[in-house]
Amino acid sequence: MRCLPPGKMEGFFMCVAKSKDKITVPIIVGKRTQKEPIKVLTAYDFRMSALLDSCGIDILLVGDSLGNVVYGFDSTLPVTMDMMIAHSAAVARGRERALVVSDLPFMSYQVSEEDAVMNAGRLVKEGGAEAVKLEGGVAMAGRIRRIVEADIPVMGHIGLRPQAVNMMGGYKVQGRSEQEEAILLEDASAAQEAGAFAIVIEGVPSATAARITEALSIPTIGIGAGPDCNGQVLVIDDLLGLSEFTPKFVRKFADLSKEIVSAVSNYGKAVDAGSFPSAEESFGADSQK
Ligand code: KIV
Repeated sequence: MRCLPPGKMEGFFMCVAKSKDKITVPIIVGKRTQKEPIKVLTAYDFRMSALLDSCGIDILLVGDSLGNVVYGFDSTLPVTMDMMIAHSAAVARGRERALVVSDLPFMSYQVSEEDAVMNAGRLVKEGGAEAVKLEGGVAMAGRIRRIVEADIPVMGHIGLRPQAVNMMGGYKVQGRSEQEEAILLEDASAAQEAGAFAIVIEGVPSATAARITEALSIPTIGIGAGPDCNGQVLVIDDLLGLSEFTPKFVRKFADLSKEIVSAVSNYGKAVDAGSFPSAEESFGADSQK
């Protein structure tokens, strides 16, 4: 890894990563300077973590979207710290190179700065996370500052904030009017000012996300925010075609639901027909095979 002198970001070295280098927070920050797109995907378990890591994904986000994807809740609100810690630890065990960022779930940081620091610390100590993500800008700047003061890197999250679904009246695109864009810009700037190393921008018109990206010096990671963010993130189940519902901003890069249904149907047919297991798939009485 080649480290350049500190740039605009106080306290961070701007680094240029070789492809095999362990991804760190300074490397992610440096990718913006180097104009290298940042590739982020959610991961919730050991096996998927290892697979995504082997494909060169930079950040594995243990998103609280696991509430929907893994647990079948209709929002992220019921997700607990215990769930986040268990899934973070599995993802951390599965990867070698990628940076593991874990979401602080609803009500683990909203009540007080002390809660925010303590729960961020649990994600690092018990969950193996290398950074945490929380939703909010101006209102959460104090929380971000305190967590960063505890030497835990923070990723912000503005725009469509799933934990604020009840305040937003649904999962709606944010920042469409000039006034809404100005609020988002204030939120993004407050998160950056408080020490966030990167910011997720979710569900925002492309032009708005582009202007916010332009105004910041830290990387932006878009989801439903157009092509001009410094990186992109998708929920892995959406990308693989495992989700029931496909939002407009998702591209299905595979149709694994179809593959799974076909494989499992064939298994059922083979068991019904008595063709599974075959002799080769069974143990003999007199051999070690
Ligand atoms: O929880 C999550 O998966 C997220 C991403 C969609 C950004 O926050």
